[in-house]
Amino acid sequence: MKITVIGAGYVGLVTAACLADTGNEVMCVEKVSSKLETLKKGESPIYEPGLTEVLKKNIASGNIRFTDSIEDGAKFAEALFLCVGTPQSDSGKADLSQVEEAARHIAEVAEGYKLIIEKSTVPVNTHRRVKMTLKRYANPNVVFDVASNPEFLREGSALYDFTNPDRIVAGVESERAKAIFEELYKPFTEKGFPLLITTPAAAELIKHASNSFLALKISYINMVADLCEKVGADIELVAEGMGHDKRIGRAFLNAGLGYGGSCFPKDIKAFINMADENGVDFSLLQEADYINASRRTKYLAKIEDLLWIIKDKKICIWGLAFKPNTDDIREAPAIDIVRELTEQGAELRLCDPKAEENFRRLFPENGQIKYYDDMYKAAEGADALLLITEWKEFVEADIKKLKSIMTLPLVIDGRNAFKPEKMKELGVEYYSIGR
Ligand code: UGA
Repeated sequence: MKITVIGAGYVGLVTAACLADTGNEVMCVEKVSSKLETLKKGESPIYEPGLTEVLKKNIASGNIRFTDSIEDGAKFAEALFLCVGTPQSDSGKADLSQVEEAARHIAEVAEGYKLIIEKSTVPVNTHRRVKMTLKRYANPNVVFDVASNPEFLREGSALYDFTNPDRIVAGVESERAKAIFEELYKPFTEKGFPLLITTPAAAELIKHASNSFLALKISYINMVADLCEKVGADIELVAEGMGHDKRIGRAFLNAGLGYGGSCFPKDIKAFINMADENGVDFSLLQEADYINASRRTKYLAKIEDLLWIIKDKKICIWGLAFKPNTDDIREAPAIDIVRELTEQGAELRLCDPKAEENFRRLFPENGQIKYYDDMYKAAEGADALLLITEWKEFVEADIKKLKSIMTLPLVIDGRNAFKPEKMKELGVEYYSIGR
């Protein structure tokens, strides 16, 4: 099938690459010229495991091509995915101007039949607005369908998630649109992955409600972790015990520094806002968001309690990305932690396998901040080690070696990545979350 993907951001690029890899002919439209040049060379502007390989393979086979012309994209295919940004505006609402702009441009040049598919995360009933825009700007002979096909990709495992989906959701309003989705996702449904056909409004809600629910789950377990610390129980045991209940499940019950990234913090706020606009008081989610923000302040309070005066303390930080296997630092806990510790005069030694470059843009190296490629060199002579992102290499660190190179073997683990018994056995002063 011929497919156009508009916007080669995280979602657009993974969608384009994976659909090309399942045998479709994909045209990907990207207006930022520096990004476009990188893509044309077969390189990915973002770090996502496996993405560069799939891109290179499909560029070579001719299954995917890149352009900055939305006009070419609009003419190329019947099915067009809108994967443009929907950033958070100051009020917490999603800013949908890029969605409108893309819909308008498509409308102005479209001919025949077009299925416009919302892939970006948008508030419920955005499909109505998109339809209105298409009507407003298009030639009356053009036939449009608007559908919602939300993504459930996790950064760091997006290719796996795309090809092994728990579910594919397609919110449609016509048989014609439904048939396109059935054809497009046949390689997946044939393997037994479910395709749920819903209405566009339900599909839009499924996305926001799913992300908000997962965020809620994380805040819930973090509150239980607070309680564990007070009463002397171990949150890991509690989470395991809860997780065995199939109705609850163990996933997303990892206590720690809470959620960051480009999705949960933004989506939960947009969902609260959307509920509010529709006269529904969703303060439950508001609370989840407050709880999440308080993880960072509580962690900082723990550091201050253990180090007392922060000024001139050498602190090593392992992990800057908002989660492992990504270079993304959006809403990463490391940002708040580094900012506060530098304000208090600490000497920071930072290490992250992929996010250093992005982090350097926010916090350039200076007298107080130094970056290290080698995680042990970063810890040399440190008064404390903070584990903020649970990259595999950090979780599997040689603790004996770590102990021998630190001035004081003090580890404050924000992700419960290490085993307390082992740390005790090795003589490391160890603190974690809810244990
Ligand atoms: C999330 C969703 O998981 C995807 O399904 C969704 O498609 C995506 O948002 C999106 O809307 O685009 P992502 O933000 O990449 O994916 O990462 P997650 O793995 O969900 O983690 C989000 C945050 O929660 C991370 O900061 C992570 O450290 C934190 N987290 C996760 C916890 O603190 N505890 C957990 O138990 C799980």
